[in-house]
Amino acid sequence: MELKMLDWDSAFFEKKIFSVQLNNYDNIDEVEFQLQNENADLAYIFIPVNSEIENKVAEKSNLVLFDHKLTYKMILSEKVFQTVENVEETDADPDDDFISLAISSGVHSRFALDPSLNHKFEELYGLWLRNSLNKKLADKVFVTKSNDFITSFITCKIKNEIGNIGLIATHADYRGKSLGRNLINHVHHWYLQNNINVSEVVTQQSNAIACAFYGNYGFEISQEDLVYHWHFKK
Ligand SMILES: CC(C)(COP(=O)(O)OP(=O)(O)OC[C@H]1O[C@@H](n2cnc3c(N)ncnc32)[C@H](O)[C@@H]1OP(=O)(O)O)[C@@H](O)C(=O)NCCC(=O)NCCS
Repeated sequence: MELKMLDWDSAFFEKKIFSVQLNNYDNIDEVEFQLQNENADLAYIFIPVNSEIENKVAEKSNLVLFDHKLTYKMILSEKVFQTVENVEETDADPDDDFISLAISSGVHSRFALDPSLNHKFEELYGLWLRNSLNKKLADKVFVTKSNDFITSFITCKIKNEIGNIGLIATHADYRGKSLGRNLINHVHHWYLQNNINVSEVVTQQSNAIACAFYGNYGFEISQEDLVYHWHFKK
């Protein structure tokens, strides 16, 4: 078991928050004891899908499943990605429309679904966008525009030789016109220029459109995890 206090989440949500990665041999009662000892308000519990511990976790009534997390992976070597001219990089301060677009990328997230956290969901995604534009959370932010209106965007970061897509969304009026595909092509082109051959992106199984989008693009699921929220009453 790996139990970690999350300083950033704790400060943002004004709760004492931990993350716990559980494995089959962990004892859930012991975990509960440790979290109570730490005076935890909330723990994000991560377990691999179809693991034996899933049944024990499901038995605890105050543990709620908020995310079936899918990690999609693609090996890029020997592929060629066409870039299109209308994708541009930005680091400009976001306007309200851009922030709304960022929020739209998170509507299936556990922070939008958990009633104890969702009052901060929009602020969280707005901050995620700002911290991507100022390079704290992303290396690059690319957008497409119609005049000055941002029609789609993507954020990405290279870490441990893997390119990670953070946020991606196309404005509802512009979906199905290959903007999302073009953005990923652009990011993959940039990864390859930087000798990065592996691309990953995480989404929720409940986001059927995103799953179809990544699957159709050529990504394959490389990992599945369940994420429970365990709130402790004081
Ligand atoms: C997922 C999303 C970014 C796709 O953007 P998009 O610009 O509409 O996607 P594209 O037009 O490039 O679609 C490329 C392929 O994805 C698949 N796809 C896209 N939308 C789909 C839908 N509604 N249903 C099924 N497949 C879909 C198709 O296979 C499509 O290829 P095709 O047009 O040849 O059939 C967009 O739907 C979106 O912004 N969703 C809300 C935000 C979100 O969920 N972001 C992902 C967070 S992880």
